Amino acid sequence: MHLITLALLPVLTQAVNVVLSNDDGWAEINIRQFYNALTGSDNSVILSAPAENESGTGSSDATPTRLSSACEFNSCPSGSPAIGNNASMPRFNYVNSYPVTSIRYGIQNLSNTYFSGPSSVDIAVAGPNVGANLGLTTQISGTVGAATEASKEGIPGLAFSGTTGSQTAWNVNPVPAYSAIYADLSTNVTTTLVASGKPYLPANIWLNVNFPPAGSGTSCTSTSQFRFVLSRINTATLISGKDVTTCGNGGRLPTEMTVVDTSSGCYASISVGHADTKLDATATEQQTVLSKLSGILSCLPS
Ligand SMILES: *[C@@H]1O[C@H](CO)[C@@H](O)[C@H](O)[C@H]1NC(C)=O
Ligand SMILES: *[C@@H]1O[C@H](CO)[C@@H](O)[C@H](O)[C@H]1NC(C)=O
Ligand SMILES: *[C@@H]1O[C@H](CO)[C@@H](O)[C@H](O)[C@H]1NC(C)=O
Ligand SMILES: *[C@@H]1O[C@H](CO)[C@@H](O)[C@H](O)[C@H]1NC(C)=O
Repeated sequence: MHLITLALLPVLTQAVNVVLSNDDGWAEINIRQFYNALTGSDNSVILSAPAENESGTGSSDATPTRLSSACEFNSCPSGSPAIGNNASMPRFNYVNSYPVTSIRYGIQNLSNTYFSGPSSVDIAVAGPNVGANLGLTTQISGTVGAATEASKEGIPGLAFSGTTGSQTAWNVNPVPAYSAIYADLSTNVTTTLVASGKPYLPANIWLNVNFPPAGSGTSCTSTSQFRFVLSRINTATLISGKDVTTCGNGGRLPTEMTVVDTSSGCYASISVGHADTKLDATATEQQTVLSKLSGILSCLPS
């Protein structure tokens, strides 16, 4: 009787502790929109991201240094300390170093101030990156570097990237449509994964999520038009093991590039990777993610 009653209840949104980073810098509009969307879903979020544009810096890592020029978009003055925050929004933190260094500072250090330490961080997200991170590009992406660093530290890491846009300051007015759409879609994936229960991802696994063009001048102008499709990061080779079987695919997932490039609709790709190599996960690990995200996954049109 109780079980039946519970099963009929709507899925409740679970509030979790999130560390948010990127490689385009702490003052870029996409990361601020994502912060707003995540907190709008009642999550407790710490933004900890590079002081400057650190696009393409992969898994580089270095001790943060005092600013020798202004933070990006003049968001902090030259000469500012190596690590700092927005005095009126202290959850917005910059770290004058690489994406990996900044997400680790959020997980290891800021979590003591806003949560109850590193083990209380539930999930780590990075992006949405300005520009897609598909296939081999994942190897040099700092956004992927940040997400994989989190997974290596035992915190499930998700990387989000959007095809549309160029690096834009946080205080732009109006907010570009693509930025709001990507933030909502990223929140959707994050909340759906959280609703699937712990562990959110298998050990050493991260997700690479890419969005097709969106907003003004595109045919994808509203979040409800988008569909998520399970994909591979890299093109399979002769020695690649089989992928998870789904959508009648005979054991081979489409590449994320194929998904994002599908012209007859608005298809976002979700790939499952190993954090240490950034390469594709096994069919078993893909199956775990497929089960967790089945409520939002679709098949490509045939
Ligand atoms: C950010 O860095 C990347 C990689 O060096 C570069 O391609 C891009 O133009 C930079 N963006 C800005 C706004 O300077
Ligand atoms: C800091 O926060 C204030 C208050 O929300 C805001 O007006 C300002 O634009 C923010 N600046 C940066 C660089 O985040
Ligand atoms: C961050 O935390 C680590 C681990 O506790 C510590 O070793 C490091 O000194 C801290 N970094 C800063 C800048 O406070
Ligand atoms: C998430 O996306 C799915 C599928 O695209 C959609 O059905 C659902 O309404 C979305 N949920 C939210 C909270 O946006």
